[in-house]
Amino acid sequence: MTEPRWVGWHRAYDEPGSFLHRRLAIVQEEIREVLASRRGELTRVVSMCAGQGRDLIGALRATGPDVSVEALLVELEPENVEAARAAITEADLSGITVVEADAGVADVYAGAVPADLVLVCGVFGNISDADIEHTIGSLPQLCAPGAGVVWTRHRRPPDLTPAIREWFTEAGFRQEVFVAPDDSFFTVGVARFQGTPRSLEPGERFFTFVGFDALTP
Ligand SMILES: C[S@@+](CC[C@H](N)C(=O)[O-])C[C@H]1O[C@@H](n2cnc3c(N)ncnc32)[C@H](O)[C@@H]1O
Repeated sequence: MTEPRWVGWHRAYDEPGSFLHRRLAIVQEEIREVLASRRGELTRVVSMCAGQGRDLIGALRATGPDVSVEALLVELEPENVEAARAAITEADLSGITVVEADAGVADVYAGAVPADLVLVCGVFGNISDADIEHTIGSLPQLCAPGAGVVWTRHRRPPDLTPAIREWFTEAGFRQEVFVAPDDSFFTVGVARFQGTPRSLEPGERFFTFVGFDALTP
């Protein structure tokens, strides 16, 4: 049987030097920073299009018992959902739920928000520019005051990261981190929510995941 595309995509994480391997290390470090800033407090986390959950699960493997997390990982591909659940069991973590669902609709986050940490990794390269702007504008529905949003996006021309950062500012976020290595095309950003949280709008569609090849001219 052929391996589903978004399962195979994760293999690059296991190749030292690959852009995904490098990106993961940065994303995990930023996750650990947010968790460390909340030591002793429960941190609610949501991850959109979570894949195999390598970022959050990997970061949690390296934190102490004073880090307490309640997380919702939303992923559509059943094999990735299984892989994430297996990794959670293997790492003996508690408080993490993985749902097989469309992360593009608001309803799936009911009960899990407002979150203190929102992961939007591997999403902005796979949805339209209009959906990126709309999703960022909707993040106040998912964020508690002071929440950190960790996001990624490539810089292939035309580089959309300046617009993305502007959209975060317009939505009430402060840019905390922007890592853009000279020798690669990936970027990792962390934005801190300074605005007023909004209630979840039932039925709202934040984005439609189309995949990067559908977006490449
Ligand atoms: C580029 S990968 C990123 C995975 C993970 N966030 C990471 O950075 O390692 C995109 C993931 O989105 C999943 N996906 C695609 N459409 C989705 C949807 N509508 N809702 C939730 N997940 C979706 C794919 O199966 C894939 O695992």
